[in-house]
Amino acid sequence: MRALTFHGRHDVRVDNVPDPEIVLPRDAILKVTSTAICGSDLHLYDGYIPTMRAGDILGHEFMGEVVEVGSKSTLKKGQRVVVPFTISCGSCFFCDKQQYSACDNSNPAETSDASETLMGHAMGAAFGYAHLTGGYAGGQAEYVRVPFSDVGPIVVPDHLDDDKVLFLSDILPTGWHAAVNADIEPGDTVAVWGCGPVGLFAIQSAFKLGAHRVIAIDHYPSRLKLAKKLGADILDYREVEVLEALKELTGGIGPDAVIDCVGMESHGLAIDNLMDTAKAHLMIGTERPHALRQMIIACRKGGRVSIPGVYGGFADKFPLGQLMEKGLTVKSGQTPVQKYTKDLLKLIEDGELDTTFMISHREPLNDAAELYQKWHDEQDSYTKIVLKPGMDQKPKADLTAARQVEPA
Ligand SMILES: NC(=O)c1ccc[n+]([C@@H]2O[C@H](COP(=O)([O-])OP(=O)(O)OC[C@H]3O[C@@H](n4cnc5c(N)ncnc54)[C@H](O)[C@@H]3O)[C@@H](O)[C@H]2O)c1
Ligand SMILES: [Zn+2]
Ligand SMILES: [Zn+2]
Repeated sequence: MRALTFHGRHDVRVDNVPDPEIVLPRDAILKVTSTAICGSDLHLYDGYIPTMRAGDILGHEFMGEVVEVGSKSTLKKGQRVVVPFTISCGSCFFCDKQQYSACDNSNPAETSDASETLMGHAMGAAFGYAHLTGGYAGGQAEYVRVPFSDVGPIVVPDHLDDDKVLFLSDILPTGWHAAVNADIEPGDTVAVWGCGPVGLFAIQSAFKLGAHRVIAIDHYPSRLKLAKKLGADILDYREVEVLEALKELTGGIGPDAVIDCVGMESHGLAIDNLMDTAKAHLMIGTERPHALRQMIIACRKGGRVSIPGVYGGFADKFPLGQLMEKGLTVKSGQTPVQKYTKDLLKLIEDGELDTTFMISHREPLNDAAELYQKWHDEQDSYTKIVLKPGMDQKPKADLTAARQVEPA
């Protein structure tokens, strides 16, 4: 089969690789119909996540048709399913608490030992995301093996097409979890840094969960435009001094909750960010948490800090005194996707949540390497790329129609 594989920093390729097989009784094999590229894939592409190996298949946002099942899978051939990026056993101490992303059984010992050394405890597993999280092959491929297929995948009804449900695999529950973690109270003002796919879903979710006002911060006009369409007030950090603007917009008090949808690769020319960038280039640091520092300073006293943005290791110049003296609460983590999929699917079915607005590109899997570069270099025009392996066989004329995306 063909799959998008990692070969080093800024080097991914569509290769021919062996088809996946059933290995354990709870496995299923999917024929992938849609798979997306995520902001988290950029951290891999930029080389900031350790333990990637040449040939690893990327992709943790995918859905497809069940084509093979192990003897203990609860799925049936022919079903359409969306698969959470978190691989979880469903019965350990953490899965019992619905902390699926912390599962203690899905990350094999040989890889979890390394993550235990780095993090203090072994991490849960994820698809297509380095050997620290299990080294499982991802779904940017024609076929994928889904372990614990009786726990993760959610069967979707045929009348909902892929574009409507694909994001249940990651960014929709992630935006939702980010807003849940912000402990929003009626009347709250919530500030969201980063208007990529995660930020946009966090904005949408914050309103759904009762925020009175959402202020969205980024620098890409097209992404800010989408945030505005969702009802947010927008700040372009290249045009305004963010801390001053937030004070002004909140009567001097600051936002009640702040959400970091940027992660370890903050952009911008602030002095702390330039220092972080220099360290990252010298390979003596991974984190560039400028946005996180800024949001801790911005947050009101007694407010909440929600961090869905991914970080990999140790950050310096962290405003710890400000966090403590202002009495802020911090919640973070990889999303326990399985906790939310059922409820979010219902909201999609009822027409309460739209996920299609952010798809900017539908493309064949064969073009994935070039699309990674575009997603990295041209974020203003590439909001979210969905790869469709089925488009690879289409004649040229049909491709144009399949690519068609409603203008935002
Ligand atoms: N916790 C989870 O389970 C989970 C799941 C999915 C993604 N993520 C993480 O969420 C983050 C966002 O993902 P995405 O797909 O939206 O990524 P993305 O790269 O598309 O979006 C990030 C956005 O942040 C903006 N940004 C950069 N610097 C900024 C700054 N200083 N101030 C304000 N905005 C700034 C960028 O312009 C960009 O629009 C990533 O770190 C990703 O790894 C976490
Ligand atoms: Zn993702
Ligand atoms: Zn578990």
